[in-house]
Amino acid sequence: MEESSVPCLHLLTLHRELLVSTITSIQCLLDNLLLNGFFCQEDVEIVQRIPTKPDKVRKVLELVQCKGEEACEFFLYVIYKVCDAYRDLQPWLEDINYKPSGSVIGTEVVNSDPISRYSQKLRHEISRDTSFIMSYGQQEETRLEDLYTDTVMELLNDTNESLGFLENLNQLLGDDAVFNPQGEVIYVMGDAGVGKSILLQKFANLWSKKELKTDALFFFKFRCRMFSIFKDAEEISLRNLLFKYNCYPDHDPDNEVFDYILRFPEKVVFTFDGFDEIQEDVDILKIPEVVSPEANANALQLLMSLLSGKLLKGSNKVMTARTGIEIQSRVIRKKVALRGFSPDHLKAYINLHFKEQEHRELVSVQLDASPHLCGLCSTPLFCWIVFKSFRHLQTMHDDFHLPDTCITLTNIFLLLCEVFLSRLASPAASSLKKSTRCTSETFRAGLRPLTAFSKLALQGLERGSFICSQEEISECGLTEEDLSLGFLRPVSDYDSSGGPANFEFIHITLQSFLAAFALVLEEQTSTDFILKFFSECSWRQEVSCTPLPFCIGRPVNLSLNKPFSTNEHFLFTNLFLCGLLAKSQLGLMGHLVCPALLRRKRATLKSYLSTVVRSHMQGLPTYKGDDGTKVHVLPNFLWMVRCIFETGSRQIAQMTAKGITPYFIKLGYCNVYSGDCTALNFVLQHHRTLLRLDMDNNNISDYGVKQLRPSFSRMTVVR
Ligand SMILES: Nc1ncnc2c1ncn2[C@@H]1O[C@H](COP(=O)(O)OP(=O)(O)OP(=O)(O)O)[C@@H](O)[C@H]1O
Ligand SMILES: [Mg+2]
Repeated sequence: MEESSVPCLHLLTLHRELLVSTITSIQCLLDNLLLNGFFCQEDVEIVQRIPTKPDKVRKVLELVQCKGEEACEFFLYVIYKVCDAYRDLQPWLEDINYKPSGSVIGTEVVNSDPISRYSQKLRHEISRDTSFIMSYGQQEETRLEDLYTDTVMELLNDTNESLGFLENLNQLLGDDAVFNPQGEVIYVMGDAGVGKSILLQKFANLWSKKELKTDALFFFKFRCRMFSIFKDAEEISLRNLLFKYNCYPDHDPDNEVFDYILRFPEKVVFTFDGFDEIQEDVDILKIPEVVSPEANANALQLLMSLLSGKLLKGSNKVMTARTGIEIQSRVIRKKVALRGFSPDHLKAYINLHFKEQEHRELVSVQLDASPHLCGLCSTPLFCWIVFKSFRHLQTMHDDFHLPDTCITLTNIFLLLCEVFLSRLASPAASSLKKSTRCTSETFRAGLRPLTAFSKLALQGLERGSFICSQEEISECGLTEEDLSLGFLRPVSDYDSSGGPANFEFIHITLQSFLAAFALVLEEQTSTDFILKFFSECSWRQEVSCTPLPFCIGRPVNLSLNKPFSTNEHFLFTNLFLCGLLAKSQLGLMGHLVCPALLRRKRATLKSYLSTVVRSHMQGLPTYKGDDGTKVHVLPNFLWMVRCIFETGSRQIAQMTAKGITPYFIKLGYCNVYSGDCTALNFVLQHHRTLLRLDMDNNNISDYGVKQLRPSFSRMTVVR
């Protein structure tokens, strides 16, 4: 006989033990049986008085069967309808070929199972939080699915050798390329703006829509910068950390959700975005690690315990960080390096970004003409700024073209600021007639808010904070109206206090840029303070050498020259400082700062750079190989070259090239991306003798090679 024609009453007897061992959410059954009059209050109480879960289920089955076939039919219908709560029984329903009969269809069924309700609530909230991509100006939001483009995701082993490529985000949690099964963390690394946060956003969004191949019921997303807002002494329990900074379960008097999480950690996915953004004093890590899920502890300690698997072992954890941040390989399960847009991705992104064919063509032609710009645009953030600015400035001015050959990162961020500040211009004027673009006029008109935003950015960076409170914003003299320019966006993720909203810069790199702007605008008579972050970097270096209990540390720098090492946010500020004080920016900056002061600042920076470059080059460790003297430079060499390129100073470039005495430079694993090759060329073209350059294990595409071409007469590139 087909099971579907077997009376439900018999089915319950036949599969009794399976039901007893599988059903977890008893209350939901009781609620529905009571609601539809199959059970009375007394039946419910009888079941509730039974101490153990299996016995409770046995009792429910016994009572349901006593009530007859109709009750049994309804019992199965509840299991079928509330499939999230009884997900483990769904395959069984299929096996027995269960189909609800006409008499039960339409009967009211409620889901009162706290676990599945919480899962639904999380999906709902995450879907809401992740459906839009940040855009400048809070009014202009773009749907994630309208703009998300795949990027190159390379799988690496523990020594950073390639294990192939990820084809889609479903493979992120899978077992492919796991090199350390004991490790708990799926580690996603990449440069500033390469799309780490967006990748996690997409990942969370897929989960919320049940489009991710995983049976995880809970998804908790954290941004690591939030750990900096906890006070040192503030302690929190794991339960609160999870719920307060995501959402609380509703109607869960018996704490079933948290208990379930503790029992089945594999049903949980965590994402921790931006590990590099933790700016804590290392002393905090001296507190012993927490292992009890009930204990209150410092939030950072909870984070460390989760990452190392001391808490919720077996839960899925994806963590992102900037390249160069090293975490001990024993906690890493697998590693993914984000490499930005490939040429095909870039084409796809152009098509998504520009709806008008005319714009698509214009941009493609201009990009094709400049491999350097293509190199920069392989980083999605820079690409986004360039495209957004293009679109905006195109609509305002007829004569706008994408900047060509020698565009620097400083130029890109100046473009973004110009776009923001151009909103101050009267909308009537810009919409009536396309005006001639006058960048210095736009900056001059926006000097007050620009100065205030820059001050805010600098203060934050000095404090090691990426979050600005309403109070700090007002103290800097910023008004409601200024906020709508687009530099800042509200932080919604973890404002649990109910106080006024906090804000953050739309991207940290913008904060670094504005902090550099503040140093240039500042009117102090002594100019040495502009170098403060160069010395900060060396100070950071010493701190990071302290042994940490969890062994998460910054990369150890073996070079004697510290100013080009460690803290990337400061490194970016230094880089932009070089760019803003470049000769090519004198025209613009001279409208904003007293020219005499500007000259003095330029002189201070140039003399400092000359000194550190000289001593850096002298300090490079050389060794004799079979084929001549070699030097293996470190990532800080690259930062130095980037800074020199931003200054545009041929003199310093020549001096650096002269300082390269060996015949062979190894730049392997230095995190060179295609956009850097113009900077390398800028320096290396001055090298007098033949040079071999080993670019092994970097991220230079054909665009990068094209940029190195001018130096080829003096150089062999080994890839
Ligand atoms: N896959 C993508 N598709 C479309 N746009 C993207 C993508 N990735 C990044 N972007 C664009 O680049 C911007 C910066 O990306 P994101 O914030 O993810 O960088 P990040 O790697 O997290 O940088 P950081 O290291 O500074 O945190 C995004 O706001 C978005 O506009
Ligand atoms: Mg990020």
